[in-house]
Amino acid sequence: MAERESVGIVLLGLGVVGSGVARALAEHAETYADRVGARIELRKVLVRDATRERDFAPDRSLITTDAAEALGTDCDIVVEVMGGEDPAREYIQKSLSRGRWVVTANKELMAKYGPELRAQATAGGVDILFEASVGGGMPIVSPLRRDLSANQITSVRAIINGTTNYILTQMTREGAAFDDALRQAQDLGYAEADPASDVEGFDSAYKISILSSLAFHGHVRVEDVYREGITDLMPRDFRYAAELGYSIKLLAIGQRDADGVCVRVHPALVPKDQLLANVDGVLNAVQVEGDLIGRVLFQGAGAGSMPTTSAIMADVLEASRSIVHGSRPSPWRYTADMAMKPISQLTTRYYIRVEVSDRPGVLAEIARACGDNGVSIASVIQKETDDEAQTAEIVIMTHAAKEADLQRSISQIEGLKDDVRKVGALLRVED
Ligand code: NAP
Ligand code: HSE
Repeated sequence: MAERESVGIVLLGLGVVGSGVARALAEHAETYADRVGARIELRKVLVRDATRERDFAPDRSLITTDAAEALGTDCDIVVEVMGGEDPAREYIQKSLSRGRWVVTANKELMAKYGPELRAQATAGGVDILFEASVGGGMPIVSPLRRDLSANQITSVRAIINGTTNYILTQMTREGAAFDDALRQAQDLGYAEADPASDVEGFDSAYKISILSSLAFHGHVRVEDVYREGITDLMPRDFRYAAELGYSIKLLAIGQRDADGVCVRVHPALVPKDQLLANVDGVLNAVQVEGDLIGRVLFQGAGAGSMPTTSAIMADVLEASRSIVHGSRPSPWRYTADMAMKPISQLTTRYYIRVEVSDRPGVLAEIARACGDNGVSIASVIQKETDDEAQTAEIVIMTHAAKEADLQRSISQIEGLKDDVRKVGALLRVED
């Protein structure tokens, strides 16, 4: 085989991540050439606005706003860091059909269309690599795909959204208002263009669908992921949780048992002595449990330009080595026949905050609503009594209960119109 001098790259996007990739390609050119055995050459960069100021920009002649020109450029690897579903999906499909390897950071696309894109890549003798789509710079896709593949994995428990983890940390430590903490996260480049994707839990849902699919060797569809965001959390819940010995985290969890797989994203109380409770700021962490490995924890920078570039470039180097040495990727296989379990079948403990009228008998009514539905109360604390308004707040911790029973209790509590102002918070407890 003739020795290759270079591997050609086309970069789709030159934003937070794309600028980092362009910078790494320029500043580490010699190191990468050494590691691959050929130069990695940036041949074209697609953007929307060629006049925009960039954190780092390659030679102007490489930048185009013409997608046909970018996709038509002779290259070996297309790096997609535009984000969103369209036209990213179309550009990736075109690239794969032209025999190009693809590296992407696009979790939405991989969660929704991962199986078909991988099948297309396999059919064309190339691969689509997506380490940066989950956990930013923290390695997790490759470990699940390769290093843990000999295990029967029973659970993946993760903090996989840097923006929300940063916001929750600021709300815990500084008592910051939600909006201020979100603005800071956006200024630091962590948040998605539409922050609803982060704070409503969509971003985490895409990522846990990808991780659960890898862990359980089947396709977990985004529609099958139960999802709640963090926008309704109140500062007082952070205070009460701390008093009870817990942190509040947005968890993304995939669990498998004999009945099937349950995948969910929601804020949860995590005991302070657990590792995940102490993963703060923009850090991400994923705890995996497998029958051979036991418990293993990955932790690292889950967002930001250079950490994400680290993951992208690792995939680019892997693809480049395969291209230089003429090796074919091993095909993707989904083997598991998975039953999905709805959240109603979950059994866990719960934290409930209820705003009530401060008068005799209220507590007994609430306890009855729980008891009637088989939910056992572990502790009750009365908080924040307002003598003038004659209202009080009750914080209840339950023993392990079925979600369906708990939801029936909540409906019954909400039906106590004379005594209950509202159920202010309902959070699952992940012991
Ligand atoms: P970004 O800053 O908004 O950059 C997007 C880039 O894509 C911009 O350069 C934009 O061009 C270009 N672009 C978007 N739509 C285009 C179109 N239709 N045609 C041509 N160019 C287009 O986004 P980002 O934060 O870098 O994120 C990129 C991807 O990485 C997303 O999938 C994201 O989920 C993922 N990701 C991001 C992070 C992070 O920390 N930011 C971490 C992990 C993964 P202009 O510059 O001209 O507008
Ligand atoms: N918005 C995402 C986050 C970027 O905050 O984690 C990384 O995917």
